[in-house]
Amino acid sequence: MKRRSLLSLTVLAVVAGCSSSSEQPRNRDFTQRLRIPPILEPTIDIDGAKRFALELRSGRSAFVPGRETDTWGINGAYLGPVVRATRGDRVRMSVTNRLPETTTLHWHGMRLPARMDGGPHQMIPPGTTWTPEWTIEQPAATSWFHPHLHGRTAMHVYRGLAGLFLIDDPDGSALPHEYGVDDVPLIVQDKVIGDDGELTTGGVDNGTFGLLGDTILINGTRDPFFEVRTELVRFRLLNASNARVYRIGFADGRTFRVTGADAGPLDRPVTVDRVKISPGERVEFVARFSPGETVVLDSRGEPEKSANDIEEDDFPLLRIVATAGLKPSPAVPASLGGPGPDTAPPGARIRRFSLSGSEINDRDMDMTRIDEVVPAGAVEIWEIDNTTYAHNFHIHEVAFRILEINGVAPPPYQAGPKDTVFLPKKAKARLLVRFGTHVDPVTPYMYHCHILRHEDKGMMGQFVVVEPGTEHLVPRTVPAGHHHD
Ligand code: C2O
Ligand code: CU
Ligand code: CU
Repeated sequence: MKRRSLLSLTVLAVVAGCSSSSEQPRNRDFTQRLRIPPILEPTIDIDGAKRFALELRSGRSAFVPGRETDTWGINGAYLGPVVRATRGDRVRMSVTNRLPETTTLHWHGMRLPARMDGGPHQMIPPGTTWTPEWTIEQPAATSWFHPHLHGRTAMHVYRGLAGLFLIDDPDGSALPHEYGVDDVPLIVQDKVIGDDGELTTGGVDNGTFGLLGDTILINGTRDPFFEVRTELVRFRLLNASNARVYRIGFADGRTFRVTGADAGPLDRPVTVDRVKISPGERVEFVARFSPGETVVLDSRGEPEKSANDIEEDDFPLLRIVATAGLKPSPAVPASLGGPGPDTAPPGARIRRFSLSGSEINDRDMDMTRIDEVVPAGAVEIWEIDNTTYAHNFHIHEVAFRILEINGVAPPPYQAGPKDTVFLPKKAKARLLVRFGTHVDPVTPYMYHCHILRHEDKGMMGQFVVVEPGTEHLVPRTVPAGHHHD
């Protein structure tokens, strides 16, 4: 079955007229200590805002010890630091582009005004600094940031531009929260890296899904192991891959408890043995360990491998080694503070989006076209109908709930606040979307497939959030590259 899927992938790639790298990730010996991205300390501006200085730059990274390759990073050679702020904080970013090309930096999962969003319209030319600011007004979550330049997102992310943005609750967390010890970020990416250490970028812009790499990096570490010192560890997993979908669990089949989805905590912990995560999604979970044991975190294809056409492989991700004595951990709280089940208000507006090839509603992205106009604070149902191969669907600014996938409720671990949903081939999703209230009739937010090859090909649309009652007054075109201020 696995062969058949890989074959169909190859056939699709050939039909698309290009070769695509779709290697199964190789087994590893896990000899490199997992890198923990540093937390960026803000400075405090005179108005009390927390200022975070981010510099996008090129550098050299040795994924294979002693063998450097060209990479891009934020405040470093590869990936970025962790930006961390608390609900209620005013944050001000100073994003300086020291790269040879224009890019943008998008705050994925963040509720903020469209001008601050860092989408394709908020371009940062080389040598300039962009300083968006906003107030954090959303639940604790694991968010992230990455470039969003139209047509160049896949390459910019692949070279290394991505970082975590952790939002804390002012009341703190009842879950493990010692960063890097029992609160551990896992930024999972697949790359093509030769034994000579060279990061290959060929294939990123080709084929049906772009590049599916044969080398897994976690937090930029190849062959990683992590040493556990506490009974319970909370993991914050981000799929920052260009296209690969993972079905993550432990090789020994142990269960673990999911505590958070993309945009916030679950209502209560959900016990699982696998979680599926497509590009852009995050999942937080807590796992229990015994003194002295070793266990491997891995990815496994669906038991029926024909279910879709992108996540068929089985491969290890991270070796976890528990020390001989583990520090006792407090119990996982029964209630996590997330929202309970949500239902659509009567008469909620339904919008329909069909995904086919790399188009949404039979159209490619047009930066000058406003596709949807949404009244501030609206609660709507968005129906996504995937008529072809695997995609996912991400909406900026909002949190949504997945009401149904193919007519049934999603697995409970996906029932929390989300901003990205996976749609296997031919799947339909029904989303309950709660929009924000930052009105701006001329600056759009994006919705798009987060398989970056598809996004770059134009699988994206634009919506504006406007004062209720003014929908019909809003211009349906905007200047391309409309500037942030
Ligand atoms: Cu993570 Cu529009 O992006
Ligand atoms: Cu986003
Ligand atoms: Cu897609």
